[in-house]
Amino acid sequence: MSETVTAFAPASIGNVAVGFDMLGVALAGVGDRVAACRVEEPGIRVAEVRGLDGELHPYLSTDPEHNTASIAAKALWNDYGDRYGVEIKVYKGVPLQSGMGSSAASAVAATFAVNQLLGTPLPTENLLPYALAGEQYASGGLHADNVAPSLLGGMIFCPNVLLPETVRLPAPEGVSAVLVHPELQVNTAHARRKLAKAYTMEQWLEQQAYFGGFVAACAAGDIDLMRKTLKDVIIEPQRKSAVSCFDAVKQAADRGGAIGCSLSGSGPSMFALIEDGRASNLATSMEQACRALGIDCQSWVSPLDAPGAHLVD
Ligand code: HSE
Repeated sequence: MSETVTAFAPASIGNVAVGFDMLGVALAGVGDRVAACRVEEPGIRVAEVRGLDGELHPYLSTDPEHNTASIAAKALWNDYGDRYGVEIKVYKGVPLQSGMGSSAASAVAATFAVNQLLGTPLPTENLLPYALAGEQYASGGLHADNVAPSLLGGMIFCPNVLLPETVRLPAPEGVSAVLVHPELQVNTAHARRKLAKAYTMEQWLEQQAYFGGFVAACAAGDIDLMRKTLKDVIIEPQRKSAVSCFDAVKQAADRGGAIGCSLSGSGPSMFALIEDGRASNLATSMEQACRALGIDCQSWVSPLDAPGAHLVD
């Protein structure tokens, strides 16, 4: 009864510019942790949620019906739980409303920990629908582009029409992701509601070409083709005005030789892909562009094959 398991789930880059709602990549070195232990009372309880500063979170709910992690954990427990309940503690490592898949990381870490505590009734990939249940509560829509890479690691193609099946894309060798998180917030659910519902044939054809070309470029390890195709002509133009440093950071990325640069998820975070040896310089340049506008920021450099959810001590 006293056993506690703790799972880590990484942050992630949603959309990856080309694949709105259907392509995501895990980030190394930043994520949420969820600790789970058995309790007598059946069901799922949230004992506490701690923020980035280690203090009790001022507004993330411990009501199991209103917490991304517990909603996901409860969906799993409802199917595979026994007569004991599970109590979870959530330790946020991913900033909220950052475009880094914060709610997805909590939902994934919770399902991974609870699955382990229940004796691993499911292989990791089968946890996806449960983690999605939690993510859907937070983001107001069904999209797996944060949950799938956070759970499975690497770069994952995960369109709704294939779920729960997903496809791992080859991570091109020698390419890293840079993620810059400006100290701004964008609410994903609001950002999603504001998107246009109809697009022209020209926009659709152009974006389709970029997506297909980018996937082919990843498979072939063709960096020139990645550079020609890592573009978003549909969603980015509608969202960039919500991120006051967008143009400056993107220009810095272009000047620094980025293969491409766009919003991470709904922003405000921005990502760039770049050849490995140039990644930390690029991160510095993008940060400087952000700070020059008086906006504090933080950055991470990650391989494109970062690990997904796993147990930690
Ligand atoms: N695909 C989602 C969106 C990701 O762009 O709304 C949110 O992080």
